[in-house]
Amino acid sequence: EQSRQIAQTLSEFRLTTEQLLEVKKRMKTEIENGLSKSTQDCATVKMLPTFVRSTPDGSENGDFLALDLGGTNFRVLLVKIRSGKRRSVEMHNKIYAIPLEVMQGTGEELFDHIVHCISDFLDYMGMKNTRLPLGFTFSFPCRQTSLDAVSVLLFLPLRYTPLDNASYDVFSLFKEFDLDVVAVVNDTVGTMMTCAYEEPTCEIGLIAGTGSNACYMEEMKNIEMIEGDEGRMCVNMEWGAFGDNGCLDDFRTDYDRSVDELSLNPGKQRYEKMCSGMYLGEIVRNILIDMTKKGFLFRGQISETLKTRGIFETKFLSQIESDRLALLQVRSILQHLGLDSTCDDSIIVKEVCGVVSHRAAQLCGAGMAAVVDKIRENRGLDYLNITVGVDGTLYKLHPHFSGIMHQTVKELAPQCNVTFLLSEDGSGKGAALITAVGCRLRQELN
Ligand code: BG6
Ligand code: GLC
Repeated sequence: EQSRQIAQTLSEFRLTTEQLLEVKKRMKTEIENGLSKSTQDCATVKMLPTFVRSTPDGSENGDFLALDLGGTNFRVLLVKIRSGKRRSVEMHNKIYAIPLEVMQGTGEELFDHIVHCISDFLDYMGMKNTRLPLGFTFSFPCRQTSLDAVSVLLFLPLRYTPLDNASYDVFSLFKEFDLDVVAVVNDTVGTMMTCAYEEPTCEIGLIAGTGSNACYMEEMKNIEMIEGDEGRMCVNMEWGAFGDNGCLDDFRTDYDRSVDELSLNPGKQRYEKMCSGMYLGEIVRNILIDMTKKGFLFRGQISETLKTRGIFETKFLSQIESDRLALLQVRSILQHLGLDSTCDDSIIVKEVCGVVSHRAAQLCGAGMAAVVDKIRENRGLDYLNITVGVDGTLYKLHPHFSGIMHQTVKELAPQCNVTFLLSEDGSGKGAALITAVGCRLRQELN
C-alpha cells in the first residue's frame, strides 16, 4: 500500500509526449502574445527587445570591462578582444561575494557594492585610473530603449532584494561613479554571444541555472514594438513567467503550488519554479515532508532540517542523482544535510529527486522545442540546423538534466537539428563583444 501511494504521488510528475507537445504549443502562443502589440501589455512571456542586432563577426576589437552578475557568482572581468585573422579574446577575472545583507538590501546598496568591487578589481589589475567601456550582463529582466540608453530593470529578482521589488534605472545608478556603461544585457544574451563567437550557427541562448530563461534572434518584422522590418534582433524571452496566467495549471501539482505559495514571489515565474535550480530542491523537500507526514519516510519524524527552506541546493540534488554514487553515499549526503535516513529512505529520496529533475528537463526541452520551431517557421524552412549556447549550474552539474532536455527537444521538434554548446567562458565575454559593437556604433554616430 505504501509503495502504491508513493508511486501514485510520483506519477503526477511524469509527463507524456502529448502533454509535452501541449506545453510546447502553449509556449508558442505565449511567444506570439509577447511579440504582438495588441496582446503585449498582458503577455506573461515578455519577449523583451535587447537591441542586439547580430551575433559576433570577428571584427570586434578593444579592451573592455565586463560585469557578470549571475545566479551564483558576481564576476568582474577585463576582456581584451583582438579582431582580424588572428582574432582572440583574453580574459582576466575576479569573483566577488555578495554579502547577505547586500543581497537582501535595496537596489542602491547592491549597485554601491558592485561599484566598490569594480574599483577593487581595477586596483588588483594595476589599472587604477583607467576608464574602460563597460558591458554589464546580469540575471535580471530589464526593459530597454536601446543598447546604451536608459534601461530600467523590470524588477530586481527577489533572490537579491525580497523587500524591494521596484524598478531601477541602471544607468543613473552608475552615472554617479563615472563609469562608461555601453551595454546592458541579460545573461541569456551574453551566453548566446559568448558561444556565437566560436560557433556562428548559435542564435539562441539558454540558462538552466538558479533561474531559467532563453533568448533568440527574432525577425524584426515580428517584433511589433520596435520600428523597422529589416533583419533580426535578439529578444530576451523571460520565459520563466510562462504559466503566470494559469496556462500551466493543469500540469502543476499540489507540491508546485505550495512551493509557489511559500516563495518570495507567489504567483510569479511559475514555469521557472518547475524547472530551475533554485526551486527543484524545494519541490523535492515538499514531497519529502508530505511523505514523512504519511509515515513513509524518516520514521515519520519531520526534523527541523526538513522544515528549512533551500536545504536541497542544485549541487546536492546532482550528487544524490549521480549514478556513480552508492546508496550508502546518498545516505551520507542526507546525513550531512541533517537528515537521518535508513537505506529505504535513501532509495525513496533518490527516486523523488529523479522524477522532479526529469520533469524539469522535459519542460525546459518543451519550451526550447517551441523556440526552435518558431525560428524554423520564421525562415520558411523544412529543416533547421541551429546551435543553442547554454550555461547554468543545473545544466552543468546535474548528471541527467542536459541529456533528458536534449532528447525532449529532439522528440518534440523533429524538423530541427539542435546542437547544444556549453558556454565555457560565462556571459561576461559576450557582454564585452556587445560592448565592442556598441562602441563602434557610437563612434560612427559621432
Ligand atoms: C554563468 C554566467 O556562467 O552562469 C552568468 O556567466 C549566468 O551570466 C550563470 O547568470 C547562470 O547560472 P547559475 O547557475 O549561476 O544561475
Ligand atoms: C531569471 C531572470 C532572467 C534570467 C534567468 C536566468 O529568470 O528573470 O532575467 O535570465 O533568471 O538567470
